[in-house]
Amino acid sequence: MPRRRFLITAALPYSNGRLHVGHIAGAYVPADIYVRYLRATGADVRFICGSDDNGVAALKTAREQNRAVEELTAHYNASQQRDFAGLGIEFDIFGGTHQPEYVDIHERFSQDFFLKIHEKGLFTKRTAEQLYDLEAKQFLPDRFVRGTCPHCANDQAFGDQCEECGRSMDQTGLIHPVSMLSGTTPELRKTIHWYLRLDRLQSRLSSWLAGKKDARACGAVWRPTVLNQSLGRIESEGLPERAMTRDLTWGVPVPLDDPDAKGKSLYVWFDAPIGYVSFTAALCKQQGEGADGYAHWWKDPDCKVVHFIGEDNIVFHAITWPAMMLATHDSDSLQGKLGEYQLPHNVVANSFLNIKFPGKEEEKISKSRGSAIWIEDYLKSFDPDPLRYYLTAVAPEAARTAFDLDDFIARNNGELLNALGNFFNRTMTFVHNYFDGKVPPAGQRDEQDGRQLERRIQARDRAGEELEACHFKAALGEVMALARAGNAYFDATKPFLSRKNDMAACGRAVNVCFQTARTLTALIAPFLPFTADRCAGMLNLGEGYRNWASAADELPEGHRLGPTQLLIKKLDPKEVFGS
Ligand code: 2FM
Ligand code: ZN
Repeated sequence: MPRRRFLITAALPYSNGRLHVGHIAGAYVPADIYVRYLRATGADVRFICGSDDNGVAALKTAREQNRAVEELTAHYNASQQRDFAGLGIEFDIFGGTHQPEYVDIHERFSQDFFLKIHEKGLFTKRTAEQLYDLEAKQFLPDRFVRGTCPHCANDQAFGDQCEECGRSMDQTGLIHPVSMLSGTTPELRKTIHWYLRLDRLQSRLSSWLAGKKDARACGAVWRPTVLNQSLGRIESEGLPERAMTRDLTWGVPVPLDDPDAKGKSLYVWFDAPIGYVSFTAALCKQQGEGADGYAHWWKDPDCKVVHFIGEDNIVFHAITWPAMMLATHDSDSLQGKLGEYQLPHNVVANSFLNIKFPGKEEEKISKSRGSAIWIEDYLKSFDPDPLRYYLTAVAPEAARTAFDLDDFIARNNGELLNALGNFFNRTMTFVHNYFDGKVPPAGQRDEQDGRQLERRIQARDRAGEELEACHFKAALGEVMALARAGNAYFDATKPFLSRKNDMAACGRAVNVCFQTARTLTALIAPFLPFTADRCAGMLNLGEGYRNWASAADELPEGHRLGPTQLLIKKLDPKEVFGS
């Protein structure tokens, strides 16, 4: 079978702040699990991310903090990279749309994209009215204006999107707009922009999306939230054309030889997803293939592109970005020929994560209210895997869930430590104490042994199926069920009794436990990479231990174990919350 190929992206975080647990739960832990799993199956994978530096988010923060936007974005690009690395989220490249090392290549790709669509006649140049701040003497970018959402009456809606109801809009639709630069009421003035003819792409987009409802036919399991939101949007509002340029100088300059394009940049949501492509090209260059190597990942139907995002990014990834790619195609076919951008195989979105501090009500994560757990702070005190575990166990895959600190501790101590840690611990202790650190003979296995051994294969297969479908929570559930089954087998076969009078029976049970621990080591690896490495060290497994297909292969008797290590630390609520 030819090697499967995947290009996996995780949403480019805005480089205007630190990362908190909500970001990580939304896109990054699931993407990293998926990548690690795919690699364990032998797939050829590239994992792409980087910071979203352009546009207004960074500009606004830089202004508030009185810093140069270049310095601010470089600072947060570096801090985000540290956070990801600390959590074991290992991208092949972490670029940045305006970072010195990437800005040129990113600009080139973004401008080429724009020009190709322009050539195809899929932009309309139009005069529109936009909010202008008389005091600040400038047009207001969407994020610099707030007002009341015409759809849900949220009075804190931004000019491009309402974060309450999730709808995107035109800033002129805001009721009672207020400039965030000066606090004054802006006036409407005329300006020129280039609008993407989404209306001309609508029917192709909706049939492409409709095709994703049938997982068997399209080969990918799309989440209902993603399909409902994107198809629902098309059904309810249609796809009006959208401005893809802005009156802003921080960004990718509009590449047209047209006096009306002067002083304008591409809309940040136009250039950001192109960052996935330009960073792939930068990676290819770094790896000595030349930047053109990106086409092997993006323009070849053999490679599957999968985007991991948070729910607020659904429309951009399931409609706007595919529309941009379609707009570059020569034919009307959805498939795209070799040499044309391939539409995403899947867009995997999680909902938001709320937070619940002990003794308080569940609330939204908010930087301004201080209700967030920052990754940088977390990593000062804790290991990464308990967080990866918890964020997967409570992942908001279908709807909002909450990071509940009491529950985080309870699950660490009750699930990770009691089920997984305890199983490894008791198995290792027996091999070391009674079998000289070597795997005892399998002996004459009975039905119970056979069932437990079979259970490992089932867990591997079921977890694999769930992972293929991007059901990470369910996959982790299968893996943890195997750990619990291991403990139940240990309790039922009672090697702690047989070691006194029947060493053959004791060895037989310990052998099965060891084989189970070996399987678990491979199966936990995508979820808990640091713990898996420690397990592999204890079990003295080779580098290839993560291989999914051989996860349930048995190791022979006499295999010597490595030294015992502490696998999971018990968390004390007093240490976590202070007493
Ligand atoms: O919502 C966000 O954080 C955006 N910066 C995500 C961009 S994803 C992609 F398109 F680059
Ligand atoms: Zn709204």
